[in-house]
This record gives sequence, C-alpha cells and structure tokens, in this order.
Amino acid sequence: MNIAVLASGNGTNFETIAKAIKKGYIKANLKVLITDREDAFVRVRARRFKIKEIFINPKNFKTRLDFDNQIIKILKNEKVDLVILAGYMRILTANFVKTFKNKILNIHPALLPAFKGVDAIKRAYNYGCKITGVTIHFVDEKIDHGPIIFQEAIKIKDTDTLEKLEERIHDLEHKLYPKAIKLFVEKRLKIKNRWVYIKNKN
Ligand code: GAR
Repeated sequence: MNIAVLASGNGTNFETIAKAIKKGYIKANLKVLITDREDAFVRVRARRFKIKEIFINPKNFKTRLDFDNQIIKILKNEKVDLVILAGYMRILTANFVKTFKNKILNIHPALLPAFKGVDAIKRAYNYGCKITGVTIHFVDEKIDHGPIIFQEAIKIKDTDTLEKLEERIHDLEHKLYPKAIKLFVEKRLKIKNRWVYIKNKN
C-alpha cells in the first residue's frame, strides 16, 4: 500500500509515522510528503528519512480547486492508496475528498466535535475544560467531521500549563496515529454510517 502525508508544520506526527513504517510496524510505502508551506520543518524531517518531499505553493494557483488538482495529480502519479493529514492546515476541496473517498485520515488535537478547527489545544485549555484529548477520523466534506476511528481523553490537571498539555496531547497523538494507520493498511477498518468498526485479524 502506498501512503502520502500532507503536512504544514513541525512534522512530529509525520516523523512518528515514518519511523513506524521504517520499523515495519506499518507495512506500507511512504511515497511522498506534500506541504503547502515552504518553511515547514516537516520538510527537513522528510529529507532526513530520504522520503520524497514536494512543496506546492498555493500562491501559484488561482483557485483551491486548481491547487488540490495539482496534489491529486501527484498522488495519482505515485499510485497513492492512503492520504494522511498530519497537521495539514488547509481545507480539502470536495473534489479531493471524493477522489480519495474513505482513503483520507486526519488527526485532531481535541475530542471532536468539540474544538473543531485551528488552535484546538489552546482553546480547550483556555475554556477551562477538565478533559480534552485526541481524535483520529476519516475525512469527509465537512471540517473535522468524518467517522471516528480512535478517540482518547486526557484529563487537564490544575497544575497543567498549556505547554505541558500540548506535550501530553502530542505524546498521545504519536501513540494513536500509527495504530490507526496500521489498521487501515491491514484493511481492518469498516465504516458503516458514522461508525467505524475494527475487524479482528484473520
Ligand atoms: C497536531 O497536534 C495535529 O493534531 C494538529 O496539528 C498538529 C501538528 O503537529 N492538527 C490540527 O490541528 C488539524 N486541525 P506536528 O506537525 O508536530 O505533527
């Protein structure tokens, strides 16, 4: 199975996934990293792992559709079967989602449907939530909305600073994302309406 990662930032999730593949925990090929940010640190991480990385400048495209079509072209060229969003800070067009229907995963640093969108950790913290967490889900046409694969909660302690909470969220992300990807690669995820069922290993 061929995998592509789309990311815009630091890339700790990307690196965790790259390691899990290298170790053979996830049996797939990480074909390409695509980013929309020239200065994204994730690009450095990809080069360290000798994974092809492509920066696509959104400014070179008139519309979001044109931009996404360029990405689709690359993904098709690379024969990608699974698209992983790992801190990709753009909304996919409906056309993109349709092209890779039920083949796009996203990670979100909150318990959806709470705190959709950007800065979710900070917003949950500032809201005074006692619990937040991580969600991994399939991507559909709506933002941070598709069927949920994994969701795990984290208690926010009185002693937590935002930085501490961010660290705990990221640790949890790095634990959960490889597991979810492994299940997808092993074709063990079955979607029925909004429910995702995990099939036992044969
Ligand atoms: C992660 O916390 C991920 O959940 C979040 O961006 C961060 C990327 O970190 N994604 C979103 O907020 C998407 N709405 P990373 O670049 O170190 O993997």
